[in-house]
Amino acid sequence: MGCRPADLPRLATIASRLARSLVPGDLVLLEGPLGAGKTAFVRLVAEALGVSHGVRSPSFTIANIYQGRVTVNHLDLYRLDGEEDEDVFALEEYLTPDAITLVEWPERALHRLIAPEWIVRMDHDTPDTRLVAIEGRDAVVAARWDAAE
Ligand SMILES: Nc1ncnc2c1ncn2[C@@H]1O[C@H](COP(=O)(O)OP(=O)(O)O)[C@@H](O)[C@H]1O
Ligand SMILES: [Mg+2]
Repeated sequence: MGCRPADLPRLATIASRLARSLVPGDLVLLEGPLGAGKTAFVRLVAEALGVSHGVRSPSFTIANIYQGRVTVNHLDLYRLDGEEDEDVFALEEYLTPDAITLVEWPERALHRLIAPEWIVRMDHDTPDTRLVAIEGRDAVVAARWDAAE
């Protein structure tokens, strides 16, 4: 999906479509600056996956795990600053075949993440809208997005 502006209702529609495109085991990276709406988007995706409450920024805990119709891992790597945390978090442990994993600030540990199925890029736009673009890893993944329309 190319870059498009979205207010919150529109973002919910996009998040719901992505949720319908996801399969267990998928890794979703969310890129974009502070306030771009990454956590808001994760909340909407998680809700669309049946997570009823509790989605908030895991900045202080690095990872939140939610139970919806599927296990949803929500990681925020903002606080990782490279080497000192290198041995503390084995990010791969979250990437289990039964779970969907969404990662904010993946650039903090990108070299330790396997190739994601999805990259969501967000940026500021107007006070009420954000720019959103979603990219599937390959044609097979992208076909799921097309089918989820
Ligand atoms: N169209 C929109 N999309 C996403 N967030 C929006 C939008 N309009 C307003 N907001 C607000 O912007 C803020 C985005 O914050 P957050 O999701 O925590 O950003 P990030 O995780 O990227 O730092 C939230 O308070 C959200 O309610
Ligand atoms: Mg956030």
